[in-house]
Amino acid sequence: MAAFQWTSVWVMVAVTVTLATCLEATFTHSAYLDAAHEKYFLQDRYATSRAPPTVDASQDWTLEASGENGTHTFLQFSRNLVLCDSTDRSIKAGTTRVIWAYHEQDPPDDTALMYHGETRGARSLMLLDGTGYRDTDMPADVQKLDFRNDYAIPESRVTNYLYRGFKIPDFGGKKHVIAFEPVVEPGHESLVHHMFLYACLKDLDPDIYDGVQHLRHYKGFPADWNSCRITVIAWDVGGTGTHYPENVGMSLGGPGDPKFLLMETHYNNPQHKKGIKDSSGLRLLYTSNLREHDLGFMQLGMETIGWTQIIPPGSQAFISVGTCYPDCLEKAMEEASIDKINVIGVHFHAHLAARKMRIRHVRNAVELPWLGNDENFDFNFQQTVRLQEEREILKGDYLIAECTYNTTDRRKVTYGGMSTQDEMCLGHILHYPSLKLRRCKSNPHESAYLAALGATDVTFSKAKNVYGRTLRKLLHTVTWTEELSQKFQEVQRTGETSVICLNQDASLETFNQQKVAIREPPPVILQPYEEPDVCNANTPPFAEIKSGRKKGSRRKKTKKHHRKLNLSLWRRESRKTRW
Ligand SMILES: *[C@@H]1O[C@H](CO)[C@@H](O)[C@H](O)[C@H]1NC(C)=O
Ligand SMILES: *[C@@H]1O[C@H](CO)[C@@H](O)[C@H](O)[C@H]1NC(C)=O
Repeated sequence: MAAFQWTSVWVMVAVTVTLATCLEATFTHSAYLDAAHEKYFLQDRYATSRAPPTVDASQDWTLEASGENGTHTFLQFSRNLVLCDSTDRSIKAGTTRVIWAYHEQDPPDDTALMYHGETRGARSLMLLDGTGYRDTDMPADVQKLDFRNDYAIPESRVTNYLYRGFKIPDFGGKKHVIAFEPVVEPGHESLVHHMFLYACLKDLDPDIYDGVQHLRHYKGFPADWNSCRITVIAWDVGGTGTHYPENVGMSLGGPGDPKFLLMETHYNNPQHKKGIKDSSGLRLLYTSNLREHDLGFMQLGMETIGWTQIIPPGSQAFISVGTCYPDCLEKAMEEASIDKINVIGVHFHAHLAARKMRIRHVRNAVELPWLGNDENFDFNFQQTVRLQEEREILKGDYLIAECTYNTTDRRKVTYGGMSTQDEMCLGHILHYPSLKLRRCKSNPHESAYLAALGATDVTFSKAKNVYGRTLRKLLHTVTWTEELSQKFQEVQRTGETSVICLNQDASLETFNQQKVAIREPPPVILQPYEEPDVCNANTPPFAEIKSGRKKGSRRKKTKKHHRKLNLSLWRRESRKTRW
């Protein structure tokens, strides 16, 4: 089957009755002129191109229930997660893109599809992973702490990184943050791309910077803020909030906790919308009833700044690799006098060219199942995912963040950077007990790229090359061949690196030193993990996914038409008479 990445579920429904009934609310009097009839069809189809999808020879979806009331039409259907035939995709952890479409008239027969026109759409969903997000079950004493912007989004620039400082109020003692939620101003959903909260490496005076905001790289941006590099909360477009497990909370207001947090908001305004004032932000929910463990948030992957994330143009699947070296993790566990940490969730972050994201976990050179694996990464849908089962990381283990990019539509090299046209490769792990370690990353060292370019006569000088000027200059003139791209790919796994291993209380000097120091290539995985091939196993592996209407269920795939009703309501006028 062609590389068609949508899980397509085509649902044809007669919505006549629903639409007609809705008119009652709008008009004083109404009556049906013809007897409405309803009939439900559910067909399993697949698509390989932009054309009406083909009926699958094997019909694998089952209609469990259907019905409608005055305002909603619903269908409930189910399918096995894995079907082992070439015309069905497996339903896996990570992002699944679901497309929907409907037509207001019945199809002429059981096999004909009527063209849906504008009544269609697409959504990325995590069908199997949860965010742990729910709006009930909060302890009675829960309190809110809001971090909100107050910003006029400029129409002239597409990318704006706004930073705003917040003093942490004096709570009179340690609290536990048990959940966070985005507070996106209604109507601004497409403009607010991500919001991160950072703690700072420097001890800043919170009173000076409380409520102060600046754009990155603009005049007046406090130099102190360059040290705010410790991510504590990450929310990306399309995501909901996250509720932490019941034995875990993020410490705030305690002795070693930050007194100041910097919020980074990435505003994305490609349509140059005018006159928009935004007050979006993040909300932390906290309690005084401390939980058993402190939550930690560790950033894996690659450093963004410094020009050493490099993706050649014209690549179908270039993999950037950032390794959390075993000695770094081990040292952090020793400092905390613990032998293991438990991972409860992951959060990926990348930009437009990213297609797949993965966190690999290696013990004694043998790879264990991935901590997170998203094969349909969607730039517009990045959320913190709670693992279905907690995972243990022991001393000596190491973690690798891998990001796969498609740059076939790009002529120029893509660098790590802040704009959505630049790339990032970040994987975060939410874990307990909290380690002081907050960044465990690596980038290929500039010298490794220079070697790949055969530029051995270029003398590498630490001082001059901190921002990769020599390399950039060379890459400016280089002709990208398949062979050179391949060499750059090899550099990711076998080249010398610079390793970032930073505790929450590290100094900016330490960071700057680590950024240029040369380390040996990442350890080799002798036995890579392979996903079990359930289709060739004898035991039936299938777990059923039910698309029920269960409250709060993330697996809901029931199509409800009420949100789209307005679009077609008025086309139905002729079926009704009203006065
Ligand atoms: C129809 O069902 C939906 C979903 O349960 C509910 O939200 C809606 O209020 C119902 N409408 C009526 C008119 O009962
Ligand atoms: C990469 O993107 C191009 C253009 O969008 C697409 O045709 C191609 O199939 C993609 N390659 C992979 C491996 O996804």
